[in-house]
Amino acid sequence: MQVPFLDLKVQYQSIKQEIDPAIQNVIDNAAFILGKSVADFESDFAKAHNVKYCCGVSSGTDANHLVLWALGLKPGDEVIIPANTFIATAWGATLCGAKPVFVDCESGSYNIDPSKVEKAITKKTEAIVAVHLYGQPADMDPLNEIAIKHNIYLVEDCAQSHLAEYKGKKVGGLSEAASFSYYPGKNLGAYGEGGAVTTNNPEIAQKVKMIRDHGAVQKYNHEIFGHNYRMEGIQGAVLGVKLKHLDKWTDGRRRVAAKYRELLRDLKNIKVPVEMPYAKHVYHLYVIQVRSGDKQNDNQKRDALQKYLGDNGISTGLHYPIPLHVQPCFRDLNYKKGDFPVTEQLAETGLSLPMYPELKDEQIEYVCSKIKEFFPA
Ligand SMILES: Cc1ncc(COP(=O)(O)O)c(C=O)c1O
Repeated sequence: MQVPFLDLKVQYQSIKQEIDPAIQNVIDNAAFILGKSVADFESDFAKAHNVKYCCGVSSGTDANHLVLWALGLKPGDEVIIPANTFIATAWGATLCGAKPVFVDCESGSYNIDPSKVEKAITKKTEAIVAVHLYGQPADMDPLNEIAIKHNIYLVEDCAQSHLAEYKGKKVGGLSEAASFSYYPGKNLGAYGEGGAVTTNNPEIAQKVKMIRDHGAVQKYNHEIFGHNYRMEGIQGAVLGVKLKHLDKWTDGRRRVAAKYRELLRDLKNIKVPVEMPYAKHVYHLYVIQVRSGDKQNDNQKRDALQKYLGDNGISTGLHYPIPLHVQPCFRDLNYKKGDFPVTEQLAETGLSLPMYPELKDEQIEYVCSKIKEFFPA
């Protein structure tokens, strides 16, 4: 049996009847940049996340940059970022000329550890980026308290967490401003690059809209510095169609996660993801940890399991094998291996199993049976 990590073709076939005319409509109207399809999607996406404003942009990376740019981050400032995230979270800070300051993650949620944030705050700290990694919200209440106490911004990176909830509230409106990615493989994915900034603050929304379109208030009147970070019309149309299915797809991901959990939780060599009591997890990724019984060998065991699954037709991923603080591009920040042990352990032992809403029970059972076969009792 073949079990791909992700299958976007199956999903397209299930919505082809709606997608094709929506794309054709953009072409017929030559509405290639922003336009009605993007405006309609922005309003629907804002409603779905119970947030006042949504600005469609060119990617999640650009959304990360826009959030901090609109808040006025500048060279010399510091931004607190989890060491366990995708590199694009840090680009938001570096593109503003600010310095990323990394913080370890918690072993339960895999998200930034609020108890370690205050130690990283200095006079130069201007913002904390809470990443809702793998689809599970970060613990926002303690982070918010720290942000208020130190008079700094709290923002969210929701690239992996469309429709996730923290204490019953949707992500994307839980902080000053938030970024989303619509990279094709995301829970809500475009048919190309795409992203968004959401906020409840009208001034930030206005500023993001200006910056994404060359800092212009109207054509050729450039009030502030800007860039071209606009969303394409075709992406707005595709996302508008797909958003209508997102609740159902999220339920599908949660069904897959529950089945994995049921079949794997009793294996002593596997730690399954923990859904925190405050969270509605949307399982962008299902990251297990592989334990060999001897910490020194966990990494080799994980790699061997990945190879074994691959040899049996099962594709898996690593998220993320090299933590941000030891990435070569951040060598000048002088972090070293050992600085963030929880993140480092996850990098060595984490394995992302196939995860998408259309995954069939037989496929999940096959994946779990191969994992069991690899770890004979
Ligand atoms: C946590 C996180 N932040 C930001 C991004 C960047 O999004 P994009 O690929 O749309 O630029 C990603 C995408 O992989 C991500 O996972």
